[in-house]
Amino acid sequence: MSRRMIIAGNWKMNKTPSEAVALVNELKPLVKNDEVDVVFCVPAIDIIPAMEAAKGSNISIGAENMYFEESGAYTGEISPNMLVDAGVKYVIIGHSERRGYFAETDETVNKKVLKAFEHDLTPIICCGESLTQREQGVTLDFIRQQIKIAFLNVSAENAAKAVIAYEPIWAIGTGKVATSEQAQEVCHAIRCCIEDIYDKEVAGAIRIQYGGSVSASSAPELFAMEDIDGGLVGGASLKADFGKIVNYK
Ligand code: 13P
Repeated sequence: MSRRMIIAGNWKMNKTPSEAVALVNELKPLVKNDEVDVVFCVPAIDIIPAMEAAKGSNISIGAENMYFEESGAYTGEISPNMLVDAGVKYVIIGHSERRGYFAETDETVNKKVLKAFEHDLTPIICCGESLTQREQGVTLDFIRQQIKIAFLNVSAENAAKAVIAYEPIWAIGTGKVATSEQAQEVCHAIRCCIEDIYDKEVAGAIRIQYGGSVSASSAPELFAMEDIDGGLVGGASLKADFGKIVNYK
């Protein structure tokens, strides 16, 4: 099955609203590519100005997080309908930084995934092991557990539309990129896990990204692997290099 590549930037906590507009304008001509879905996941306060700046281009604006309730007394949180109203299509769920610094769990990830689908938002669901887990040889068990819980009660129809980002924690922001074999091994295991939960059709349709120190030089080899359908890019998505990553071929 041929899957459309999806290459997303995760800006994390970078760029003020005016800087966001400048960066979108700088990258707009560089990320043109009709064969790839290009997404910029930006801080909540940058969503509206980035969306304006990206108008008429092939860039979709995504969010980096959202809450699993519709509205109410949740100071500081952003609801799914706020994202939808702003024109957002994609939302990163369960990034390791949110799990690590903001106490997100597999259970809250599952609630957010279900809520995203209720609003027709495409979740980019993050998973990934720590260096200790890799050294203990439990990587695949750990990832399977994260995936199984993230997809609890998600219908096959929705699961097929999801995006999963495999991001080994030891590779994030460290310049230590996983080898293409290491990344492929885990992305393949994720696809098999989706096949176990659902069926071959869903497993063949779901898109799986690799993330963790992706650069213009590492992208071509990673993105050529059979089970890797694009990337979730941190640092390099804030630079002109992102154009090279999108046009990796
Ligand atoms: P880096 O590309 O900066 O390693 O970040 C990866 C990441 O966490 C994307 O979500």
